[in-house]
Parts: sequence; structure tokens; C-alpha cells
Amino acid sequence: MLRAIYPGSFDPVTFGHMDIIRRSSRLVDELIVGVLNNKAKTPLFSVEERVRMLEEVTSDIPNIRIIPFGGLLVDFARRVDAGMVIRGLRAITDFEYELQMAQTNHKMAPELETAFLTTSLEYSYLSSTTVKEVAAFGGDISQFVPVPVADRITEKMKKKESVD
Ligand code: PNS
Repeated sequence: MLRAIYPGSFDPVTFGHMDIIRRSSRLVDELIVGVLNNKAKTPLFSVEERVRMLEEVTSDIPNIRIIPFGGLLVDFARRVDAGMVIRGLRAITDFEYELQMAQTNHKMAPELETAFLTTSLEYSYLSSTTVKEVAAFGGDISQFVPVPVADRITEKMKKKESVD
């Protein structure tokens, strides 16, 4: 039984993440999407909101669980008994950070393998950060994120505007 974790911030989930989620779910018995609850960062969405959005947009995938985690990824992997970490590579610029992370994780947990999927070409430019920036300036984000996510971002931006 191969259980893998696809970890990330998912603030918010984009079509690029969805591409990796769908493709990797076909390669493993169970895919756990690990949503980082990083207390040091201030995300646009709370971890509960990010988990809910991921659940909504992956509801048709049978072998998937969305689980929030804090602390080290290797500890989370041990807790859920996962043998593999999956990460997406969009471009060469991702490689250095991903290599460093995979090797650090391997040093701490030699039993844990990291596998990389190259993001499909049509999403290789896409990141949560740019989606948030486009949305903040009122741009159309429907080609970057699923409809329920786009709606939540728009709502969030409106709330932020009324506070700022
Ligand atoms: O979507 P992101 O922000 O690129 O995901 C990064 C993530 C969550 C995979 C990474 O920051 C992570 O694993 N954080 C948990 C802390 C940890 O284990 N750090 C050591 C790895 S070098």
C-alpha cells in the first residue's frame, strides 16, 4: 500500500495544484494533501478555510484525504504512515529549493522518498502569490483557480478592502 503526502500552503489552491493532485492520486493508493499551518506566516485564508476549499474541489477523487499539519513534514509523514512526498516542479527556478528540502527531509527520515511531478505546461507560470496579486487589483482569476475558490478570494478581498 503506497500512501503519499502532497504538502503545501495552498493559500489558495490553484489549477496548478489541482493538476498535481489529480495526476499523483492515480499513481498511489492513497494521497494525503497536507495543508501547512504555519503560525509564523499570515496567510490570506485560515488553515480551516484552505482545508475546506481543497475538500470541495477534490470531492470527486476517491483516494484522497485533506489533513492540516504543523511542525516538520517528516514528523507528519511518520504520523500518517506515508512513505512518499510528492512535489510539483514548475520550472528550473523551483529546483534549488525543492532539492534542498528533499535532501533535508531524506537526511531526517531516510525511509521517506520525495518524488517530483513536472507541472503541466499550461500551469507552469501559476502560483498562489500571483493569483492573490491579480485578485487584489480586481483582475479576472477564473482561469487560475476553480470557481468556488475564485468566489472565496473575491469575498476575502472585498472584506479586506472594507477594513483597510
Ligand atoms: O506550498 P509551499 O509553501 O511551497 O509548501 C512548502 C512546504 C509546506 C512543503 C514546506 O514549507 C514544509 O514542508 N514545511 C514544513 C516544515 C518542514 O518540514 N521544514 C523542513 C523542510 S526543509
